[in-house]
Amino acid sequence: MYPLMDRCIMKLVNYLDQQTIGVSGEEAVIDPKAVIIGFTIDVIACTSFATETDTNGDRTNANDPLLKHSETIFAFNGFKIAAVFALPRRVLNLLNITTWFDQNSFDYFINLTKQILQQRKLEEGTSTKRNDFVQLMVDSFVYDDALQNTDYSKLTASANEDFSETKSLETSDSFQPTKHKLSEDDIIAQSILFFAAGFETTASTLTNCLFELAKYPDVQNKLFEELNSNLADFLTDEAMTSQEYFEIVVNGSPYLDATIKETLRRYPPAIRIERRITSEKGYTISGVHLPKDTLIEISAYAVHHDSEYFPEPFVFKPERFLPENRQNLKPYSYIPFGQGPRNCIGMRFAYQEIKLFLAKVIRRYRFSTTPNTPQKLSFKPGSLLLN
Ligand code: HEM
Repeated sequence: MYPLMDRCIMKLVNYLDQQTIGVSGEEAVIDPKAVIIGFTIDVIACTSFATETDTNGDRTNANDPLLKHSETIFAFNGFKIAAVFALPRRVLNLLNITTWFDQNSFDYFINLTKQILQQRKLEEGTSTKRNDFVQLMVDSFVYDDALQNTDYSKLTASANEDFSETKSLETSDSFQPTKHKLSEDDIIAQSILFFAAGFETTASTLTNCLFELAKYPDVQNKLFEELNSNLADFLTDEAMTSQEYFEIVVNGSPYLDATIKETLRRYPPAIRIERRITSEKGYTISGVHLPKDTLIEISAYAVHHDSEYFPEPFVFKPERFLPENRQNLKPYSYIPFGQGPRNCIGMRFAYQEIKLFLAKVIRRYRFSTTPNTPQKLSFKPGSLLLN
């Protein structure tokens, strides 16, 4: 999906270039969150919904339905969230509450996915070759009985080493799976989940990162130096779409990696992680017995700001995450993407998008605060996300 992402980055660069044309000293004041949301919508629209958008370039088109519904899908209503958590499914059905997202926007995405699937059916047997998430799902299949036959004692997953992450599902030798295609409902559900989980979290991370880089010019300088020296040979647009460029940006720039990790430590977009005790016997931790079905809420924000794990927790210090300092990190103290077999499935996608964005943008522009920039970020109260 790298070429798809790269096209969106180029659209964003064009937009930023336009903003600075004719402005004295080529400086422009931007609203970073609005611009970056535009970028992440473009990315998720083309990778998940096969829809080409230029959200920033088309800002005059305020009625663009994709943009409108992307913004309103997260218009959380406190009553609805409380109801979804507190009321049994039967009662929710009676109240016609099927989701805590905005129902209109939710329906818009259901219909959009249905239209795309219809289009894909028409394209079957033609030479049109799509390379996006919808197509991956159309072409894929699931093992009906994979879960029943999985040996969970052999299931391993780790998000500590993000890029050398190992995830494996081992099944018994006698396992003969039957497979079927994903249903239309499966595909619709996964597309909406990807959209909802993917664009706001990534947009917040990029915005928060630019805020910290503007506040700490020395960090921005270091990042610029690393990128400039690592990527000195990549000057043309063509060179910047090569596999080599991609490898250096995604896997070979430790300060870039550390800057993003520190941003996610300071501002984990998903502030809480949830688990349910599934063992019949329950679970005892620190002398407290938790019976089966207890819901556990883990505050990622609190763990990330505990000075036992991260000294001077409110200071932005990417150095904590440089390879030479890794031994200071305590297992399970860093959980922006959750942990274990149900950690974020989009983690590598998000890192890739954020890294490719920063690599291009930081080499081309310098970010600084204005007299109106707040000293610290504030977030929407009552939201499920830190946004
Ligand atoms: C900076 C960006 C992102 C952050 C911080 C983030 C964070 C998280 C967290 C904390 C969870 C819950 C994990 C757990 O319970 O252990 C999660 C789950 C999930 N995320 Fe992300 N996410 C990000 C980007 C994305 C993207 C780009 C996608 C899709 C393209 C995505 C798709 C998902 C999905 C599908 C799940 C549910 C996984 C499951 O239940 O098995 N996320 N994410």
